Amino acid sequence: MAISKALADELERRRAIALEGGGAAKAEDRHAKGRMTARERLDELYTKGTFQEFGLHAQHKTRHFGMEKKSIPTDGVIAGSGFIDGRPVAAFSQDFGVAGGSLGEIHAKKICHVLDHAVKAGIPVVGFNDSGGARIQEGVGSLSAYGQVFYRNVQLSGVVPQISVIAGPCAGGAAYSPALTDFLIMTRENAQMFICGPEVIRSVTGQVTTMDEIGSAQAHASVSGNIHFIAEDDAHAVAIVHRLLSFLPSNNMMDPPHKIEADLSVEEDPTLDELVPEDPKMPFDCRVVIRQIADGGDFMEVMESFAANIVIGFGRIGGIVVGFVSNQPTVKAGTLDIDASDKAARFVRFCNVFNIPLVTLVDVPGFLPGVNEERRGIIRHGAKMLFAYASATVPKITVIMRKAYGGAYLAMCSQDMGADRVLAWPTAEIAVMGAEGAVNILYRKELKEAEDRAAKAKELADEYRAEFATPYLSAGELFVHDIIQPRQTRSSLALTLRGLMSKRETRPPKKHGNIPL
Ligand code: HXC
Repeated sequence: MAISKALADELERRRAIALEGGGAAKAEDRHAKGRMTARERLDELYTKGTFQEFGLHAQHKTRHFGMEKKSIPTDGVIAGSGFIDGRPVAAFSQDFGVAGGSLGEIHAKKICHVLDHAVKAGIPVVGFNDSGGARIQEGVGSLSAYGQVFYRNVQLSGVVPQISVIAGPCAGGAAYSPALTDFLIMTRENAQMFICGPEVIRSVTGQVTTMDEIGSAQAHASVSGNIHFIAEDDAHAVAIVHRLLSFLPSNNMMDPPHKIEADLSVEEDPTLDELVPEDPKMPFDCRVVIRQIADGGDFMEVMESFAANIVIGFGRIGGIVVGFVSNQPTVKAGTLDIDASDKAARFVRFCNVFNIPLVTLVDVPGFLPGVNEERRGIIRHGAKMLFAYASATVPKITVIMRKAYGGAYLAMCSQDMGADRVLAWPTAEIAVMGAEGAVNILYRKELKEAEDRAAKAKELADEYRAEFATPYLSAGELFVHDIIQPRQTRSSLALTLRGLMSKRETRPPKKHGNIPL
């Protein structure tokens, strides 16, 4: 017996209302501002025809402020799962066109359902945040609802990758759900993220500021470090999600999407011999080296504009997905400071939890000296890098390109911090500190008495460099496993990574370590 026409029509009628969302006028308004609607974002995200929606017929149940008479189609959020490049991915997209995408209890229940589904199915989750925040009419119920989302974000952390797109307002405590996820992508225009807006800041503290200064994509990408990528618009944000997912496993029990070929050979690459100047004081852009090492020059940099003295991101070597961490000699001479330490440590922990091997490229003169650094806690922040590397059990390979001095040598994953393989170039200088600094301390008296102080200092520094600032002393004492020509880097890394694919390393059971935060 076929379903009656009346029942079928009723379903289609209800579907049409819900799919209409905030209506054509609101959609047009968004398009005029160069923005997509919530539903268009999901269309862009998923392979056509693969999206399965949860909760299309959802309705709020608020009885205050005349809300009993008001319908909020989908309750302001579109939720479900679909496929990207043949892999299932869960997602939600807040619909600013419907009650300002404000988060009420049913709205949150839908997001929670997506998060629960993602963890059960072991699939990544993508959230488009575009909301006026807690739905004011639902009072504390909407705060509780946020709590339920936050709680799940934390439970999912380290189990499935969570990616947030900030594509509209993200105000107050609402910013904390994205902040609990792994990667935040923010559109350059039309998106703001803040805890207290300029008006609140002015009335409480008297400080005058602008949204651009505290809540824009630019501010978060370069100053606060709250976001990982700036997107030019919604479509670009989705393209970044796709690219990011192409490097990530679906969950913590899976390998990332390696593209390993049967052929083990990787050619030597003479270009690498040319890229790094021998003079340790001459800067070079480490991203050029990373691209030369990565398969096809394909390197996805993460947090490009924040703490640019360290470079992090994803690529492949011999088909194996890796996380690159490299000092950047062109910025602050590649020193490690508070922000660089936070940035690198979090990335190392992300890679570790999702089984992504780490390749660390070193040219570091030390931690950045400075009163502010000391007073703001460089000890605690720098310790994060030590903690992150020492606790990571994924394959860890370190290439010392030039300088590797002092504590920063250890913080960049020396053998003692658990590196499985340490390779050095002939230009490597591994020492407690640079020649000039060391000579000033060791030969203070001689220098004071010298007729020509500068000439004596140079002579002593040259002696020091010849003795200590080479990789051979370290290789002799097995702190370095091998010294290779730069041209052999790609092939050495590819083989070493392949040899470490089945690495197993167990640690004593514990709830979790106590990383200095
Ligand atoms: C209910 C809301 C809403 C909210 C917006 N709307 N925010 N409804 N609760 N929080 C509704 C508006 O009433 C309007 O409905 C529609 O969404 C569009 O809003 P507009 O103001 O017309 O849009 P616009 O001019 O673009 O301004 C956007 C905005 C502004 C800047 C986001 O709406 C705003 O300031 N909203 C409040 C932000 C806020 O303070 N939220 C609470 C944060 S605290 P109609 O029917 O007219 O279309 C919070 C606590 C979370 O979230 C705690 C977690 C721990």
